[in-house]
Amino acid sequence: MLLVIKMGGSILKEGTSSELLADLKALAQEHKLVLVHGGGAEVTETATKLGKEQRFIVSPEGFRSRYTDKETIEIYTMVMAGKINKQIVAALQSQGIVAIGLSGLDAALLKAERKKRLIIVDERGRKKVIDGGYTGKINEVKTELLSLLLEKGYTPVVTPIALSEEFEPLNVDGDRTAAVIAAALKADRLVLLTDVEGLLLKGKLVSKITAAEAEEALSSIGKGMSTKVHAALEALKQGVKEVLITSGAKSQPISSALKHEAGTVMTSE
Ligand SMILES: Nc1ncnc2c1ncn2[C@@H]1O[C@H](COP(=O)(O)OP(=O)(O)OP(=O)(O)O)[C@@H](O)[C@H]1O
Ligand SMILES: [Mg+2]
Repeated sequence: MLLVIKMGGSILKEGTSSELLADLKALAQEHKLVLVHGGGAEVTETATKLGKEQRFIVSPEGFRSRYTDKETIEIYTMVMAGKINKQIVAALQSQGIVAIGLSGLDAALLKAERKKRLIIVDERGRKKVIDGGYTGKINEVKTELLSLLLEKGYTPVVTPIALSEEFEPLNVDGDRTAAVIAAALKADRLVLLTDVEGLLLKGKLVSKITAAEAEEALSSIGKGMSTKVHAALEALKQGVKEVLITSGAKSQPISSALKHEAGTVMTSE
């Protein structure tokens, strides 16, 4: 199978855990893997250390995102493509996985349209239009490059940064990046690893949910997870058969989710 796996920054704080690495090692022997990673919290931490306080904005749909100005995209690129990506790549090599780190800038792997304007809701609940900054929506994945690497036995590790039409780096959401890549590659499974057991509704783990049910539940799903559910819906709509949302902190985190022994299974019907 071809698996696209997004590793949430939430589980990478102390590096890639040995349990997760062991699972990836076993899976890499049988399957083709494309990894995507997050790391927002670490970007915020580094930015703060550099004296660049991060600002977060909320869309009318309730999405919370980093306001990415020029300095922020530089710090974002530094931490995500520089530090986190390389740490993961090195950790994978220790398991005999020949990982290759790529941002969306490399070989123009991910192209995106820069958001010209953003509509935000301020603290008082009023809508405002602001400049889009360096954020974008992916509109092209160079699948040819990923297929080529996979065919030769390399495991791509992708940082969610895309190339704009003006050849600038854009901050793109990690969950959505994974979903777009999974759809473009016609992956068999999309796995979203995070720091909770899976999708929780009324405090309880949902072990199975259809796209229609998930769409209905969206308004009661909080930030962080709602981005994943949106990403999962997108992937399902575009032909990915199953999306698994599960904890990256357990033993055999991915394998157990693939067997439906842990996490949330999302399917189109
Ligand atoms: N209904 C819900 N079920 C499960 N988690 C939820 C729900 N609503 C909100 N959350 C939050 O979503 C969080 C996971 O998303 P978050 O963006 O924090 O992590 P991540 O995506 O794994 O990491 P990163 O964004 O750095 O890649 C959980 O820790 C939880 O607090
Ligand atoms: Mg997240």
